[in-house]
Amino acid sequence: MSHGKASAPAKVILFGEHFVVYGSPAILAAINKRISVDARTLLHDEDKIVIRSDIGVAGEYWHNGEFNALEGGRKAKAVLDPLYVAIKHVLLMRNKKKIGIEVNISSRVPPGIGLGSSAASCVATVAAVDSLFQKKPSRQKVCELAIKSERQIHKRTSGADCYVSTFGGMMQYYSKSKSFKNIEEKGSLSLVVASTGIKHYTSDLVAGVKRFKDTNKTLFESLAKQASDICLQAWTAIESGRSDKIGELMNENQIILQQIGISHPKVHNIIDICSKAGAIGAKITGAGGGGAVIALAASKHEGTKIASHVKAAGYQSFEVEIDYNGLSV
Ligand code: MEV
Repeated sequence: MSHGKASAPAKVILFGEHFVVYGSPAILAAINKRISVDARTLLHDEDKIVIRSDIGVAGEYWHNGEFNALEGGRKAKAVLDPLYVAIKHVLLMRNKKKIGIEVNISSRVPPGIGLGSSAASCVATVAAVDSLFQKKPSRQKVCELAIKSERQIHKRTSGADCYVSTFGGMMQYYSKSKSFKNIEEKGSLSLVVASTGIKHYTSDLVAGVKRFKDTNKTLFESLAKQASDICLQAWTAIESGRSDKIGELMNENQIILQQIGISHPKVHNIIDICSKAGAIGAKITGAGGGGAVIALAASKHEGTKIASHVKAAGYQSFEVEIDYNGLSV
């Protein structure tokens, strides 16, 4: 029996979500909340793949494709299918047809609120399983297979979440070329995440934006152009450490996200609380429709104050730091 371990970080999107699906750039950062995966080969059960996650789902897949939920009922299949696909991709790549695998996932990332828990799970699962056969799996290959697996639940994925989870740090991501450039921020950004508590399916929100785009072609083009400009300006502002400008651009980006219909009254309420508590800027992070808000604070101390105001209003909130490690195997 052999063992493999890997972990991958969650993410926040600072600029450009949704428009990145249509070729605009986005700025993302990996954050210090991880998903860890432990994989092992099953000696006596060669014809099944067992996946357990501490978010309360578990199931076994037989090699004939049959699924049996062990925990979490019907929800289990929806959550575990991309991970099963991830494992199958690795087995195919390594030409391992008849082998049993067990994967255990432990998560420090709240699911379904835009922090990239599904991408981080796919990245860490691909890497942990591949490490059973290959000492140091290639990051680029892991990322490609993770994107393929994520497509199982989110067909139009831009790939941004898997890239930042695999490579870590802060990056400008280009979906057209599936490539990124690292951003060297001057000074550290004090970031606060606040959750509306409303979970979403990224694929539904992305489909809603596509409907908006198809019925408002000219408006969407103009908003996409504005979102791209904001992203480019944000890159310069981040590299020159101009927090006020970054915050201003986050607020502008939020207005654009409201226009494409992915905001929510609870998002507005949280943004209001953050700005009254001194945030320089705040916006949705990720797919929206509820989900989470990212706020920029002037300092770590200010970040703690903002998070405590948000918590006092009954929402979950925490400070985050940028993770520069990315995938760890
Ligand atoms: C989801 O974290 C980000 C979106 O832009 C979708 C994607 O990029 O695939 C909403």
